[in-house]
Amino acid sequence: MTIKAIVFDAYGTLYDVQSVARATEEAFPGSGDYITQVWRLKQLEYSWLRSVMGRYHDFRAVTRESLTYTLGTLGVEADPAVFDRIIDAYNMLSPYAEAERAVGHLSDYRLAILSNGSPDMLDALVRNSGFDRYLEAVISVDAKKTYKPDPRAYELIQERMGVRPEEVVFVSSNGFDVAGAKSFGFKVARIERVSPAALRQELASGASIGPATMFRALRMQTEALGYQPDAVIGSLLELPGIILSLSA
Ligand code: LAC
Repeated sequence: MTIKAIVFDAYGTLYDVQSVARATEEAFPGSGDYITQVWRLKQLEYSWLRSVMGRYHDFRAVTRESLTYTLGTLGVEADPAVFDRIIDAYNMLSPYAEAERAVGHLSDYRLAILSNGSPDMLDALVRNSGFDRYLEAVISVDAKKTYKPDPRAYELIQERMGVRPEEVVFVSSNGFDVAGAKSFGFKVARIERVSPAALRQELASGASIGPATMFRALRMQTEALGYQPDAVIGSLLELPGIILSLSA
């Protein structure tokens, strides 16, 4: 089957969500790492809770609600300007080091993002990072008022791009997204930002387990849901070779 389109997840796949740590640490010195990790854990949890509850709020609202929760666990409140400054860090996330070069090498394929991000967040992020010049489409789940891994979110790729699931390689680092995309019917490449061996080493170090390690254990490994990726890569630069082998 010919592969026609490569579709990327945004947060954690092309863009490093950990790069908000600068803003969280500046606002709350000493608590930046805790806030960064609990915030991201809750942000995803709230996206799923709202989907299951049938109470969709867009991802900007979910991002705000989960930050409110996180600060609440510390018993602190940010004044509105500081709160907005932390939220705005999502518009300025750093791309992973190899991401732009890797996307630039894939010009033989149709390229897009499918993300939980709201259209305004994604537009700002893609424009600020200059990735708009490589992408044919930046697709937000907002059109379906639900979040990945709801299959209705993945349907947007065919609806917007006219490609069938088996003609798509979907690329994500997020375990839940890998499982959802594979269950939906895409070919899936998982970009492994934290290897199982690195995590095991961290857990075995004897140091007490901090929020970043918890995050890596809960969100950065392959889920045991029965939907394994077709390929696991350590760098997005491996994609051209992987796509050829998945096309065979
Ligand atoms: C996204 C979430 C999964 O970009 O990080 O859709």
